[in-house]
Amino acid sequence: MSLQGQNIVIVGGSSGIGFETARLALQQGANVIIAGRSEEKLSKAKFHLIGNVRTVIANIVNEAAVKQIFTGLHQVNHVFIPAGGLTTGNILETAPNAFRQGLEERIFGALYVIREAVPRMSTGSITLMSGKLADRPTPGTTMTTVGVSAVEALTRSLSLELAPIRVNAIAPGWTDTPLVSNILGTQYETVIQTVIDKIPVKRIGTPEEVAQVAILLMSNGFINGEILHIDGGERLV
Ligand SMILES: NC(=O)c1ccc[n+]([C@@H]2O[C@H](COP(=O)([O-])OP(=O)(O)OC[C@H]3O[C@@H](n4cnc5c(N)ncnc54)[C@H](OP(=O)(O)O)[C@@H]3O)[C@@H](O)[C@H]2O)c1
Repeated sequence: MSLQGQNIVIVGGSSGIGFETARLALQQGANVIIAGRSEEKLSKAKFHLIGNVRTVIANIVNEAAVKQIFTGLHQVNHVFIPAGGLTTGNILETAPNAFRQGLEERIFGALYVIREAVPRMSTGSITLMSGKLADRPTPGTTMTTVGVSAVEALTRSLSLELAPIRVNAIAPGWTDTPLVSNILGTQYETVIQTVIDKIPVKRIGTPEEVAQVAILLMSNGFINGEILHIDGGERLV
């Protein structure tokens, strides 16, 4: 199924996996809306994207801002929601409120987007973002693990509730995006080398490789209720 002329909304499309997905969708002739919080990141992304792309400033946890993304849009074909950060912290040493933003982004944020998108869709797809943590939690990432596991539950349940609209999720492993370089900072080289030594394919993923999965989930009309893992086999070791 071609994405030519399709209207695609990517919430979290100004960077990393979302940005690469916008780029690949535009290459196929789609009309793309990218949303994110930072105007600067959106402008930079728009500068580097070629094709029919519109940007909207919106924080996914703000329901009114999410409505703005869809204003004037009568038909939506595909939605991709990579927006969301990584909240770390041992639960005994971290104030519970510090975990609220991450859970709101992944669960309520996704609901706000879906509730605006679905009335504008008859078929097509919604792709949510999980992560390797859902299968392989690590100490100190418990509440992000809770968030991505909830996304997987949401995916399975919504694939029935929103039928015939398809609902899937991507569960990436380590992917070389600004999210990772910002979190690791000066530890980047050391941590990534340790990770690479462990991953069967001996490297981390590129945002384009994960974006290819997002495009597949939009294009293939028979994939539904699926959590698609792309982690170089890391969850098996
Ligand atoms: N990279 C990895 O190794 C990896 C692994 C597993 C899962 N993931 C998941 O994949 C998704 C994308 O990650 P990435 O690595 O591509 O990160 P990224 O490069 O930081 O991109 C995140 C995008 O989402 C936007 N965003 C973040 N929080 C938002 C919010 N509250 N409201 C609206 N937009 C928001 C960002 O723009 P603004 O900051 O301007 O809002 C940006 O456009 C995330 O959910 C992440 O947890 C990534």
